Amino acid sequence: MCGIVGYTGYREASTLLLDGLRRLEYRGYDSAGVAVLGHNTPVRIARSEGRLARLRELLDREPLAGQCGIGHTRWATHGRPTEVNAHPHRQGKVSIIHNGIIENHLELRARLESVGCKFSSETDSEIFAHLVDREMSGGTSDFRAAVASALGKVRGTWAICVLHDDHPFEIVAARHNAPLLLGLGDETRPAGQRENFIASDVAAILEHTRRVIDLDEGDTALVTRESVAVFDAAGKPVTRAERRIDWNLLTAEKEGFKHFMLKEIHEQPRVLSDTLAGRLLPQQADVRLDGIDLDVTAIRRITLLACGTSYHAALCGKYMLERVARIPVDVDLASEFRYRDPVVEPGTLGVVISQSGETADTLAALREVKRLGASTLAICNVVGSTIARTADQVIHTHAGPEVSVASTKAFTSQLTIFVLLALYFGKRRGQIADTEIQRLLGELSAIPEAMGHLLGQLPAVRTIARRYMHARDFLYLGRGLGYPVALEGALKLKEISYVHAEGYASGEMKHGPIALVDENLPVVVIALRGPGYEKVLSNLAEVRARGGKIISLATVGDAAIADLSDDVVLVPDVDELFQPLVASIPLQLLAYHIADLRGTDVDQPRNLAKSVTVE
Ligand code: AGP
Repeated sequence: MCGIVGYTGYREASTLLLDGLRRLEYRGYDSAGVAVLGHNTPVRIARSEGRLARLRELLDREPLAGQCGIGHTRWATHGRPTEVNAHPHRQGKVSIIHNGIIENHLELRARLESVGCKFSSETDSEIFAHLVDREMSGGTSDFRAAVASALGKVRGTWAICVLHDDHPFEIVAARHNAPLLLGLGDETRPAGQRENFIASDVAAILEHTRRVIDLDEGDTALVTRESVAVFDAAGKPVTRAERRIDWNLLTAEKEGFKHFMLKEIHEQPRVLSDTLAGRLLPQQADVRLDGIDLDVTAIRRITLLACGTSYHAALCGKYMLERVARIPVDVDLASEFRYRDPVVEPGTLGVVISQSGETADTLAALREVKRLGASTLAICNVVGSTIARTADQVIHTHAGPEVSVASTKAFTSQLTIFVLLALYFGKRRGQIADTEIQRLLGELSAIPEAMGHLLGQLPAVRTIARRYMHARDFLYLGRGLGYPVALEGALKLKEISYVHAEGYASGEMKHGPIALVDENLPVVVIALRGPGYEKVLSNLAEVRARGGKIISLATVGDAAIADLSDDVVLVPDVDELFQPLVASIPLQLLAYHIADLRGTDVDQPRNLAKSVTVE
């Protein structure tokens, strides 16, 4: 969604801000802007609609000199993506950038207009500029307190940064249900060479510092070149822990691949090894889940909550947990959960799954399930994210930074955690024999290699993609664990190629979607060997009898499938529990190649954002 970068120090701010915003480009945006404050000059603003390159051109033509500034990429919620609606917004001597939504903005706007305030944009965010301006015009010299007081009048979510013309080298930052962190410069440098940073995502400032402070909900901070001072929601000075970032920027670069998505698909064997590292205990027939301490005997039911791809991982998780641990599992779309008055019984473990750890719906569902008395666990990729910090316990997926909007490696790492969680529960509930755990652990540790081998065999997927790239609709069918895999395959195709695709449980095909089948409809069938195999073959025959084009995903050694299919992709023969791990890869590649051949913006598909921080 929106991105925020702030800088105060001794270097030219606009260059640093643009570089930082470039690191956040992958999150998706529709306009961008910066505000820069010079030593003896008031704040000057540059904004543009569209890509960052346009803002860069503007700044090349008309540079903004100054060593303190704030930068923003906007993803429109209130008001069209135009230059006028782009941030920063300015009123009087105040300039602000904002991520989030002000829920009572209409009411506040009407009130401010009735006392003569004039608004220049359609955004909710501009309200902040007016409110802070009014606080400051009251004569206070406490810039941070003025911002805190303005925040007391709004309802909603925010990560904001504020500049004031009369406060050179000062930025006030605040956070409430939207990510924001402070990056600490090297304070041992001589005075005159000190600096500090602010960002909504650490990638924006990682080139300059690895030391960060995550603001807590309700915090405000006064950031200067020399120091950072944090205050809690009550206005009391507080010390927030410093965190060191240990991944490097190279992992966030393309490394020779045409797109981040392709790179991330190819990273999966390594990611899987990283996710498993230190967690398999074959000797003890057990798994280790970081410092997780779950009273398994007290847990009677598990509720899984997530959105999008993470929701599909949760659907696989339900199957895995129920099969291995014999524990009832519900799966809910996080965006639906809190609006349907859910029943949460004593003994419920609420598990939220989120790559980014910042998805607003998932965070809201986590808070709701917690409020209703469940103990909570997060499966999360981003250390220190809001979801990771809100849940009682966290299992990190260790997939590394995922840049492409379409989630790939994070998905398979989530599946891996579910396998481990199923074994963890299964063992402690006495539902699985040690010998079976050992067999599964042995096979699991060989999956990264099988994935690597599979990736080597897959250039053929591009040929298949070329054959079907002009199709207007696709159907994806699967049964059992193949069903969420089909849903995920369809989602991948939709989001990056803009081709309509539907995932369906293959048993449901006769109850409706079969009416769509004709010679123009490619049907991707997950037909791996396992309990549902024979039935899937029947569904396949039904599609074929109606002229549908069949692309089968089958198990190596399956000689029969070729006669029933137009195209076949073979994947390694693995235990049913691990099938989603290998079956997902060709589907990710099919979506990737179709999108690439159609010439869409693979890494930043239209209308989408990497982390969806609004509900
Ligand atoms: C995945 O390809 C999507 N872009 C999207 O569905 C995503 O999985 C969803 O927004 C949830 O994100 P999260 O895992 O970061 O919570």
